[in-house]
Amino acid sequence: MNEPLYKKAVRPLLFLQEPERAHAAGIAALRLLGRCQLLCRLMQCRNLVQTQRPIQAFRLTFPNAVGLAAGMDKNGECWQAGAALGFGHVEIGTVTPRPQSGNPRPRIFRYPNAGALINRLGFNNEGAVAVARRLARSHKRRQELPILGINIGKNSTTPLEKAVEDYLICFTKLAKYADYFTINISSPNTPGLRDLQKKRQLRQLLSPLAAARDARARKTGRPAIPLLVKIAPDLSFRHIDAILETMEEFCFDGIVATNTTLQRPPLLHDKKPLQTGGLSGKPLEALATHIIKYIYHTTEGKLPIIGVGGIDDVESAERKIDAGARLVQLYTGLIYRGPSLPKTIAQALAPRHAEWI
Ligand code: FNR
Repeated sequence: MNEPLYKKAVRPLLFLQEPERAHAAGIAALRLLGRCQLLCRLMQCRNLVQTQRPIQAFRLTFPNAVGLAAGMDKNGECWQAGAALGFGHVEIGTVTPRPQSGNPRPRIFRYPNAGALINRLGFNNEGAVAVARRLARSHKRRQELPILGINIGKNSTTPLEKAVEDYLICFTKLAKYADYFTINISSPNTPGLRDLQKKRQLRQLLSPLAAARDARARKTGRPAIPLLVKIAPDLSFRHIDAILETMEEFCFDGIVATNTTLQRPPLLHDKKPLQTGGLSGKPLEALATHIIKYIYHTTEGKLPIIGVGGIDDVESAERKIDAGARLVQLYTGLIYRGPSLPKTIAQALAPRHAEWI
């Protein structure tokens, strides 16, 4: 479905519904698509752009630069449909060890004039055991697409001092299915979670996760699963330096920049009252790009960056790549611009990846 058709016929219907209901309808449609393997394959052939030279990042080979950001497919229900839409990788989650219902509704708010969303979902998900069971049923063969990232976090009731146990449980239960893991320490909707970005707490978290990764690699004889960290856009450069040092110390493989912001940039000119929660979409774009640029320069381009935040067209994706991102992800843009967006962006970025090598 092309963008004009989506905007004229589908988006108005979706936007008549409360955002979370619209989200559930979208997931149901993608789940159905994911079950129709033949249709998925046909759509994948049509929509999944494969760059002439595939993109290498953290020991994985990506068919194109565009991925679906965490938060859309929280429970791994429809990731297979991602490749049919043209996504080279899909990040599911955030998954926590135990199921949790998240914050009271309403908890997603649209700001159409600004191309933005504010959410305070609070890691609503079915828990690591249920997600592992579902992934076991739909388990892909290693070479199959899309690349599957699993984003993990802690339960809201787990005290911060015990957070590491939650991440280790998720790692252990889901490692069999993940092409890579993203350690989410940046959601603004779980009280205290962002404190894990501070150096002392981060060392205490990353050290045992790296040990678990290395132990698993030794035990299975397989390459170590790449571990990434997802950071907030509201950090000072001093804080980011500390995170990068800690990631280097424990041989972390990449960084996802960024999560939603607690800031309310001026671009958010909308008459509706501003809700509490994490802001995504267009007003986040410049903020996230600024962070990516800083990380790229600080690491001299050695740490692969997945650039996320406010991508809703080719130009905004190119700005992320120009800032130093090797891959990009999007979520809010998909809601405002429709399912043709990943293919459009992947197609436009493909020649640039051929140039790089
Ligand atoms: C998110 N995001 C998110 N990130 C994450 O690491 N774990 C999560 O569970 C969620 N959940 C979530 C729900 C909703 C409704 C939204 C809009 C976003 C953040 C997301 O992955 C991404 O980092 C930001 O939304 C910025 O990208 P976009 O949306 O501007 O493309």
